[in-house]
Amino acid sequence: MSSDRIFDVESVTLRFGGVVSLNDVSLHQNRGEILAVIGPNGAGKTSLFNSLTGVYQPQEGSITFLGRDSKPISIIGKKAHRVSSAGVARTFQASRMFSALTAFENVKIGAESHKGIGVLGAMLKGPATRRGEKTSDLKTAQLLDFVGLTDKANIVSASLSYGDRRRLEIARGLATDPQVLLLDEPAAGTNPSEKVQLTELIRKVRDVMGVSILLIEHDMKLVMSLAERLYVLNFGSVIAQGTPAEIRANDAVIEAYLGSSADQTKGA
Ligand SMILES: Nc1ncnc2c1ncn2[C@@H]1O[C@H](COP(=O)(O)OP(=O)(O)O)[C@@H](O)[C@H]1O
Ligand SMILES: [Mg+2]
Repeated sequence: MSSDRIFDVESVTLRFGGVVSLNDVSLHQNRGEILAVIGPNGAGKTSLFNSLTGVYQPQEGSITFLGRDSKPISIIGKKAHRVSSAGVARTFQASRMFSALTAFENVKIGAESHKGIGVLGAMLKGPATRRGEKTSDLKTAQLLDFVGLTDKANIVSASLSYGDRRRLEIARGLATDPQVLLLDEPAAGTNPSEKVQLTELIRKVRDVMGVSILLIEHDMKLVMSLAERLYVLNFGSVIAQGTPAEIRANDAVIEAYLGSSADQTKGA
């Protein structure tokens, strides 16, 4: 395996009963790359993310992650929390914020659960959890500043706009000090100006923090402007890979999208 590959996925097949969600998928991500996975609804994009993060266990193939200090880690068979502490962070297609907690509290829980205090410990704030709390407070404030939410730190996350919630999720992912951040449809539900802000933020995460970005996104304008390279999934298989210009000109991709144009225009 080349030493600059943060993810190396080889011949991964994932089945649910008779359904083949990922069919002999091979792909890689270079360290520091902004990589995107696109494809029609049901193509297997979220299944791929779940396989990369230890949520799903593919029956065949291998997934190697180059963790901190460039130590290769085999992902298949690892529990999700182990994959997370190895340096893989993600956001979800549907928001998983604690909606009654403030923006600040949501990010702080991310920081503290990562340190081994656990989500419950972080919420209950028992005596044992007070150690290191100042560092988490500082880190949380820095992350909120980084994503542009300092003035909304004390607002409960349920009251934030979609765009702000998406940025909060990114801050919470970054609170675990990841090597790579997986974003599942980060622009879903946002308006055009929020999309522009999100694009800039995601690029800044890579440029300033040096975190590799793996992105699933339906908004073609956003994904083509942000990604340096893309893979296209259709019915669980990789049907194309290349730069945005190469993907735009690929006949198999055009056909896959025209075949599902109804889903795409609904933004499903
Ligand atoms: N937990 C699961 N149980 C059964 N089938 C699943 C499960 N997760 C995904 N699938 C199936 O895998 C296929 C790909 O789904 P998914 O990865 O969510 O696609 P996408 O994110 O590209 O829309 C679909 O047919 C879906 O029904
Ligand atoms: Mg999905």
